[in-house]
Amino acid sequence: MGNRAIYPGTFDPITNGHIDIVARASRLFGHVIVAVAASTSKNTAFSTDERVDLAQRVLTPYANVEVHRFEGLLANFVRQWDAVAVLRGLRAVSDFEYEFQLAGMNKHLVPEADTIFMPTRENYSYISSSLIREIASLGGEVGEFVHPIVREALAERLGKRAIKK
Ligand code: COA
Repeated sequence: MGNRAIYPGTFDPITNGHIDIVARASRLFGHVIVAVAASTSKNTAFSTDERVDLAQRVLTPYANVEVHRFEGLLANFVRQWDAVAVLRGLRAVSDFEYEFQLAGMNKHLVPEADTIFMPTRENYSYISSSLIREIASLGGEVGEFVHPIVREALAERLGKRAIKK
């Protein structure tokens, strides 16, 4: 099966930038697990089950990719799956300081795994899930940044909210 990598995040919702990282990682690792954080300080638009479901549906083309939820410490999840790597996408230099801290702490908590940083493709470097949610809630077009399934889910969830106001 080869080495296993964990790609953690909130994925509220999964974007084309995330999909690009998963696609590239699926060629480097035998098995990639997208780990959707259930306990997050972020006020999410989609529940954990919905975030998992959306990620699962858009990632079906990748045979060696699975999507699971995780609660609590990422380090415990990494150990539970016997993973060798934690994957993180870097969009800009400003991401680096926080990511470096996270990588250092995770290395301390689970020394058998390493964090691998992947540069985000140029045309996705300015995307974030919250910006996508904001654009969708204000009636803007997000089709360039998310999979059609996610675009539909955003219109359902946030489009209606915007109309109600
Ligand atoms: N393309 C597009 N957007 C991207 C991206 C990419 N390749 N990579 C990241 N982003 C965006 C995300 O959409 C997100 O946007 P938002 O802030 O608007 O929601 C932002 O960048 C940061 O997201 P992400 O990198 O996924 O981090 P996160 O904050 O969602 O997740 C966890 C962080 C969940 C991995 C981390 O908090 C964690 O491990 N928590 C578990 C608890 C724990 O173990 N804590 C101790 C850590 S040592």
